[in-house]
Amino acid sequence: MSLIEIDRIQELLPQWLETSRQQCGYGKVASYIPELSNSPIDALGIHIMDAQGQSASAGDTGLSFTMQSISKVFTLILALMDNGENVVFDKVGMEPTGDNFNSMLKLELVQPGIPFNPLINAGAIAISSLIAGSNPAEKSARVLDFLRQLSNNSSLNYDLEVYRSEKDTANLNRSMAYFLKDNGVLQGQVEDVLDVYFRHCSVSVTCADLAQMALVLAHNGKNPLTGEELIPRRYVQIAKTFMITCGMYNASGEFAIQVGLPAKSGVSGGILSMVPGRYGIGLVGPSLNRKGNSIAGVALLEAISQEFDWSLF
Ligand code: DON
Repeated sequence: MSLIEIDRIQELLPQWLETSRQQCGYGKVASYIPELSNSPIDALGIHIMDAQGQSASAGDTGLSFTMQSISKVFTLILALMDNGENVVFDKVGMEPTGDNFNSMLKLELVQPGIPFNPLINAGAIAISSLIAGSNPAEKSARVLDFLRQLSNNSSLNYDLEVYRSEKDTANLNRSMAYFLKDNGVLQGQVEDVLDVYFRHCSVSVTCADLAQMALVLAHNGKNPLTGEELIPRRYVQIAKTFMITCGMYNASGEFAIQVGLPAKSGVSGGILSMVPGRYGIGLVGPSLNRKGNSIAGVALLEAISQEFDWSLF
């Protein structure tokens, strides 16, 4: 069954991709991290992997791009593995905000002043301070190792130009982090926490790397190709739930209705998604809509999910 469907996906994918690519002109590449403004606005690529290692792909799958917010799913999981649920959810909440991903509006409106969820910038910065390690370099190395393991790609590494570009210009994240420190949410030095955060956002991947990581989540933490248990099932369940409720930021409700799959986007135009129990999906399309999600990527996922009736709902 799976083999037949992946063949059918491969047959249809190039045509859908080219139709969705036409959306690129209606969006913009991110420029608030200056280095990202060099991203190719018309690019669109997708890689879908099944539990037998069969793949379907189309478009610009050779493009490397930084994970940005997609990495937040995995730092959340690592923080849960390092500390357990009680410690993590003492510092971040479980609710969507309805605000932009970089908003700090609600931090002052609620008590305790903890970030609403781990996938907005404030929440992910709080999560960075919970990664185990005796210094920022050790924490970052643990995150990178985890991503290498999940992607089955030992050469995964940082895009240092994007890392520096963000670090040099991150006034908003920096102010948020100092605010969180004052609220007692961050442990350690603010600049150390931010360094861990900027590094994991700058990990460079391809669509195939994201598809492989997503495949592990789709199979409840187990790599179906090797049988290896990489993440406890409970933490995958938490991560996938956040992907549904907050993974596409303040467009998560609309995405749940139109696509109906767990997903996480990043401002580089990447999207990691999955069909639980079946496929891992990695996608890139740097042209973004007003909510910060890949404009053509969302259109492409809508088309495929509707054609194959993949919605969980
Ligand atoms: O902190 C930032 O703004 C970026 N490093 C990540 C933001 C991001 O990817 C939000 N995505 N839609």
